[in-house]
Amino acid sequence: MANPNVEVKYTKLFINNKFVDAVSGKTFPSINPATGKVIAQVAEGDKADIDFAVAAAKEAFKRGSEYRKLDASARGKLLWKLADLFERDINILANLEALDNGKPFQKAIFDVYGCVATFRYFAGWCDKACGKTVPVDGGNFAYTRKEPVGIVGQIIPWNYPLLMLAWKWAPVLATGCVSVLKPAEQTPLSALHACNLAVEAGIPAGVLNVVNGYGPTAGGAITSHPEITKVAFTGSTEVGRIIAKAAADSNLKKVSLELGGKSPLVVMDDVEISEAAKIAHEACFENHGQCCCAGTRTFVHEKIFDAFVAESTRLARERKVGSPFDASVQQGPQVDDESFTKVLSYIESGKKEGAKLQVGGNRIGNCGYFIEPTVFSDVTDNMFIAKEEIFGPVQSILKFKTLDEAIERANATTYGLAAGILTHNLENALIFSNAVEAGSVWVNCFLAITPQTPFGGYKQSGLGRECGEEGMELYQETKTVSIKLPINH
Ligand code: NAI
Ligand code: MG
Repeated sequence: MANPNVEVKYTKLFINNKFVDAVSGKTFPSINPATGKVIAQVAEGDKADIDFAVAAAKEAFKRGSEYRKLDASARGKLLWKLADLFERDINILANLEALDNGKPFQKAIFDVYGCVATFRYFAGWCDKACGKTVPVDGGNFAYTRKEPVGIVGQIIPWNYPLLMLAWKWAPVLATGCVSVLKPAEQTPLSALHACNLAVEAGIPAGVLNVVNGYGPTAGGAITSHPEITKVAFTGSTEVGRIIAKAAADSNLKKVSLELGGKSPLVVMDDVEISEAAKIAHEACFENHGQCCCAGTRTFVHEKIFDAFVAESTRLARERKVGSPFDASVQQGPQVDDESFTKVLSYIESGKKEGAKLQVGGNRIGNCGYFIEPTVFSDVTDNMFIAKEEIFGPVQSILKFKTLDEAIERANATTYGLAAGILTHNLENALIFSNAVEAGSVWVNCFLAITPQTPFGGYKQSGLGRECGEEGMELYQETKTVSIKLPINH
């Protein structure tokens, strides 16, 4: 049940299975984006706290530790138990998420189910992380082992706080790594409830640590830490670049990055327009447009362009914006003042550059960070709104003539996270899917993300793939062992 008065029980750092104050004693406010008011003061970690968390993680990862002695299948049971506890506390988790992030409660429920599915998927991988025996030249007996990469630093964003935590925690446990995770400063709360569940699940102390705090301080301490052997980041391309540099300048820790996007969705002229417009609408407006793989460039065939724009405008006009705790609401506030201001400035630039504003474009009310669902048509490739990640409820509709032209324009971006095509023509769907430079391609659907399938970006949308079998590899080293045999046989 939706409950805006959900109790905020946990506000401290989580290190070595205990909730502790920051060494500095500092706290920072977490803001409710629907009202702009403070929900709670949260412990603010920085370098000293990251050092403590890394020390706890190191102890948990030591040879012969309780954790290292667990059978792989036992780690699977821990993940399964964690999934059960997320399911049990689904209402608490979803309410904290709705309160802190501003997404509608029902959407937050959906996110928690995504966490449950992720934990269960990776639970199955624990005892299937097999190496190989290799028929090498020279007669030695050679085999490979998949080993945990070690102490992992994980930095996550605010758009899907719990789901991103699940995407980070699940492969940590599945591969036998240990983690120090920093949630986004906008959304520190739900992760702390998850920490409490990790203790209840029986995950040994030091395996999962959560240090809230700001990017340059707590995040920076993670990325440059000499004992962290891998950093996994989800967030902006700008910060991804900083992280890759910090990793290189410190200990060359391994880096995986899931960054921004400007994903194209190509709508061919053989579609049923109302159905196609609905898919394109959800592709763009999901999570208030705060989605790395949102379909923000809607390329529409010239033959159906006007009708499609009219239908898209109608859908945006009807989208209900309001309190995250109102069951009929589809869109809550943007996450914070900074993001809200940035989105409004993109809308202004769209108007200035001559895109046709069909609907929306304004702030709603004067409290909280609500923005009208906005549709621009007649957008051209060189406009700012067609190039930059807006991360808000803004759809840009562009006109095209041929599939080849659409492919070329779809690829004319520095990003490459996702792409989609709507058509009943199988050949066109396959030509597009092969040619588009994107980590995920969706045909006649969008945002079809599952824990079973790899997810990540081409080009400046990232490095590496999360989820699926590749999601295990991100957290593993491969060791080759060669044994000389006395006789060659
Ligand atoms: P951000 O990339 O600054 O923040 C993401 C995470 O990185 C947060 O936990 C933050 O504290 C941390 N961080 C920031 N600076 C850091 C540093 N120097 N070292 C280590 N960690 C650092 O994203 P922000 O500022 O919240 O949003 C800016 C834009 O980034 C958005 O408008 C959107 O375009 C994009 N973004 C993309 C996301 C995605 O899912 N790919 C998620 C969030 C934002
Ligand atoms: Mg930032």
